[in-house]
Amino acid sequence: MQTITLTQPDDWHIHLRDGDYLATTVPDVARYFARAIVMPNLTPPVTTAAQALKYRDEILAHRPKGSAFEPLMTLYLTDQTTADDIQAAALSPAIAACKLYPAGATTNSEAGIASITNLYPIFAAMEQHQLPLLLHGEVTDPSTDIFDRERLFIDQYLSQLVREFPELKIVFEHITTREAVQFVRDAGPLIGATITAHHLLYDRTAMFQGGLKPILYCLPVLKRDVHRAALLEAATSANPKFFIGTDSAPHPRHQKENACGCAAGCYTAACAIELYAEAFSQAGQIEKLEGFASHFGPDFYGLPRNAHTITLEASPWTLPETLPFGADALMPLRGGELIQWRLRTETQQSA
Ligand code: DOR
Ligand code: ZN
Repeated sequence: MQTITLTQPDDWHIHLRDGDYLATTVPDVARYFARAIVMPNLTPPVTTAAQALKYRDEILAHRPKGSAFEPLMTLYLTDQTTADDIQAAALSPAIAACKLYPAGATTNSEAGIASITNLYPIFAAMEQHQLPLLLHGEVTDPSTDIFDRERLFIDQYLSQLVREFPELKIVFEHITTREAVQFVRDAGPLIGATITAHHLLYDRTAMFQGGLKPILYCLPVLKRDVHRAALLEAATSANPKFFIGTDSAPHPRHQKENACGCAAGCYTAACAIELYAEAFSQAGQIEKLEGFASHFGPDFYGLPRNAHTITLEASPWTLPETLPFGADALMPLRGGELIQWRLRTETQQSA
């Protein structure tokens, strides 16, 4: 049987939610990943260091026995964020970055940023304190075609932002277009990007195949296949600017399968690394998975690579169609379907 052993990976972009939902999301992420950058878009959002540390304690309370999983916390930038908030975050080793949601761009983004240029003093403070900026990069004008929103964000905001703050580390999160790939490739070494498994495996046509598939609806929305191909090429290119970030984003079933509006987000945390292995092996590039999943993220964030390893085997299995999710049910991506790779459950100490 074909197997592959990797340095244990980290997830550089995940939504764990809070309350009872943590009983599902934390064991799932901790099964694969040593660390994860935890998104702050709770209701209400996590906007201060004190709130982030409290949220971290809630997450740690759900960490499985024996797991060393470490949540890396983020602050949600708002129009009210101050330079003092940034300094307090920078002084806390448990806080790794700040997340910018343009207001109205996605789930729980109502408290996000109305004017990016008004936030320039905050970016200056982040640059000074070496706190990375994580970007949901989409324009929010409701009249802009949804498939163009990421591409237009580059020209309207990101190019200028990168020019104005040359020392600011920026992660262009969950990129979905060839234009974003090209921008990140051409930018300096402080500009990186995360890529999800679902954007590597699916294009927008898949969302409509055999009827509308709420399970595949996420933001930024899936694009044409030529964009998926560009993402796959970037992820398997061994360019350290591109690294793993699942953007696993659970919603209760009734909010996904909702006739009045499907919530955006794909839950991939139950089979995360296996989905990436599938994408990389379909491209004939499985040997490139370790750099993307386990090396380039910690290198970008200036953190040590993990000491343990995990092993994946080419041994198909079926993920349950639904998972418990507090008092609700959760429909994981690929639920009820065959998954080609499987994690061997024990982690191993590196030689
Ligand atoms: O699909 C998404 N879901 N995209 C986001 O940006 C947010 C996320 C969520 O929190 O559900
Ligand atoms: Zn996200």
